[in-house]
Amino acid sequence: MKLKDRVAIVTGAAQGIGKAFAVGYAKEGAKVVIADIADGKETVDAVENAGSEAVFVKTDVIKQEDCDAMAKAAVDRFGMIDILVNNAAMYANIIKKRFNEITTEEWNRVMEVNTAGPFHCIKAIFPYMKEKGGKIINVASSIIFEGAMGMPHYVASKGAVFAFTRSMARELGEYNINVNSLAPGYTQSEGSKVIEKNRAIAGPNPEEISLQKRCLKRTSLPEDMVGTAIFLACDLSDFITGQLILCDGGASFH
Ligand SMILES: NC(=O)c1ccc[n+]([C@@H]2O[C@H](COP(=O)([O-])OP(=O)(O)OC[C@H]3O[C@@H](n4cnc5c(N)ncnc54)[C@H](O)[C@@H]3O)[C@@H](O)[C@H]2O)c1
Repeated sequence: MKLKDRVAIVTGAAQGIGKAFAVGYAKEGAKVVIADIADGKETVDAVENAGSEAVFVKTDVIKQEDCDAMAKAAVDRFGMIDILVNNAAMYANIIKKRFNEITTEEWNRVMEVNTAGPFHCIKAIFPYMKEKGGKIINVASSIIFEGAMGMPHYVASKGAVFAFTRSMARELGEYNINVNSLAPGYTQSEGSKVIEKNRAIAGPNPEEISLQKRCLKRTSLPEDMVGTAIFLACDLSDFITGQLILCDGGASFH
């Protein structure tokens, strides 16, 4: 087991890719804190079925006080924090539309959740993680290299996540904390289904486009992200920091 007795916080783990991370970490022996604005009970059950322990902490990552309470709850329950996965994002609720129809409020909301959220979470866990080091994984997206119609705020926010990752890697290296980005390609999560259903502009079907571009000719599922997330959380990646790993079946090369 690659994460035996490690304690991991996964934000946005009530569904989709975050849920897959939580279950994947549990199978490797980690105890998991499920932090989400939505109910995380299903994920807690899934982690327990995988043979480990989990706790759900209702957390809105745009609120520093929620993130502080999340970190405290992790330490109260499991004694430490070894891994933070900043996975929560404003994604499913985005209505794809022309850039000039996006309001400042919509732009700011996406930026707040997707960029201030990881910032708040790292601030919250730092007092605990700095004592013996750890791993931080910020979930970006392959979309930052490709662009996409109808969601410039989301694309910009994920570009910021990668830039923030580089910056945090520089700041936290002296504490033996590795900070990396995992960039999924288009993946069939609950969020992806909702976003395509709600789109307000016509556009190509992202699943078809991605399938054409991928070297590996199959659908990307949340479980396809898990191996990379385990690698970046375990000892095998101890000398890797500030990097971005694209996990998109070879759809894009950068
Ligand atoms: N699915 C894809 O195609 C894809 C591709 C590239 C990157 N990503 C990224 O991967 C991550 C997971 O994506 P997904 O497809 O599973 O998304 P999803 O929309 O299915 O799930 C996102 C989760 O984040 C939670 N969340 C949203 N706002 C929150 C907040 N303010 N505080 C706490 N939790 C909040 C939601 O409740 C939900 O459980 C996201 O960072 C997303 O941007 C997804």
